Amino acid sequence: MTMRAAPTLYIYLAAAIAALAGLLFGFDTGIISGALLFIEKDFVVSTGMKELIVSSVLFGAMFGSLASGRLTDRFGRRRLMLIISGLFITGTLIAALAQSVASILFGRIFIGFAIGIGSYTAPLYIAEIAPANLRGGLVSLNQLAITLGILFSFIINFVFTNIDGSWRWMFGIGLFPALLLSIGMLFLPESPRWLVMQKQLDKATSILKSLRNHPDVTNEINEIQQSLQIKQAGFRDIFSPWIVPVLFLGAMLGFIQQVTGINTIIYYAPTIFQLAGFEDASSSILATIGIGVVNVLSTIFAVIYLDKIGRRPLLLVGLAGMGLSLVGLSFAFQSGAEASALRLMAMACTFTYIICFAFSLGAILWLVVSEIFPLEVRATAMGVAVFSCWLWNFVVSSTFLTLLNALGPSTTFMSYALMCLGSLAFCYYKVPETKGVTLEQIEDNIRRGLPLRYIGQPVFDKTTVTATPEYQAD
Ligand code: BGC
Repeated sequence: MTMRAAPTLYIYLAAAIAALAGLLFGFDTGIISGALLFIEKDFVVSTGMKELIVSSVLFGAMFGSLASGRLTDRFGRRRLMLIISGLFITGTLIAALAQSVASILFGRIFIGFAIGIGSYTAPLYIAEIAPANLRGGLVSLNQLAITLGILFSFIINFVFTNIDGSWRWMFGIGLFPALLLSIGMLFLPESPRWLVMQKQLDKATSILKSLRNHPDVTNEINEIQQSLQIKQAGFRDIFSPWIVPVLFLGAMLGFIQQVTGINTIIYYAPTIFQLAGFEDASSSILATIGIGVVNVLSTIFAVIYLDKIGRRPLLLVGLAGMGLSLVGLSFAFQSGAEASALRLMAMACTFTYIICFAFSLGAILWLVVSEIFPLEVRATAMGVAVFSCWLWNFVVSSTFLTLLNALGPSTTFMSYALMCLGSLAFCYYKVPETKGVTLEQIEDNIRRGLPLRYIGQPVFDKTTVTATPEYQAD
């Protein structure tokens, strides 16, 4: 009896340690919203420079995500996680001790590189050590860790507000999770799947035995070996005609997650709240903590209900809600309402926006990109989708303040609302429901050339499919 309980606990612990990379992702991207208000007190920084400080992490992350496919195969998942914890520690020290804006930028690019690799490697490592029946929940743990990291950063921003050189402390606290990650990873095993890839069968078998707490893991080792028979495709193969539609879908989801404006709120919330009339930095940072709390709570809702309600309904309702909240925010800034009314409206709209994002696009992007790609191109294609997410994050975050200055808050938020509308239409026509269907069935549907919207169909049934006009056209 205890044979089941023990490995489950061990696996949860291992997933939680690996998810510290997600926590650092959230922490190091979220901390800038508060730190920015104090960096500009110590250095002379133009709007363009502020945008650069925010987006330097994203710039690093773009390159980290591009390199991650190769690096995970070369160094192994565990060793790479140890390397990125070292990068986190080095980058944090450089940024926290910086004597110039250039050093802050340099440290933040370093951290970004680690975040980019971690955003790919942590879910991969978790998925590879988890038993199949726990995999979905454990992978979503990573998104939960991201939102917890963001909340933690907002709290730290608030706590250190009135301390001299506060931004140094804000950055520096990131050392603790980074150290925890490096110590924790020392005690975790290498991924058995990677060991099998390296032909280290004995080691893989003994690790799997201890992970499953079972003396016989022959079946699982055989399954891994079989799945590795499929040749891992290279970069060029992801452009084969049958893959291109799903690749496009993954890249579009990364695009949509970012151009609908999430990080204008996550990274710049205190700035927005100050615009809406919150007088001092600390009260706007306090309002931002509220954002962090609802982000976590709504993500927990997503983790529980994604497999029950399904991806599509949550995605469509979420996008509609995000769009409406942005329209509300735009009107609030346009109405010339009294300071207190404006504050209240701005708060209400940003809160509903975050709730709607977290139960939809927040969790769904990472989940769907881990589901839709056929095994032979999964690593490379996932890398492309993750890269697209970081690229568009970079574009949006590095232009937000400029847009705000040029167009004013009302028009700026209205343009993100329009992005939500376009995204809603795209998702309605193109995003499949992947709830409860095996990855093999999805792959089979893609091979048969089903339109994107239908690749999550549980069983390939000619009668249902012929009824769909898109399929007939094919
Ligand atoms: C996104 C991040 C965002 C976070 C907010 C993640 O899924 O990729 O860009 O900051 O959600 O919770």
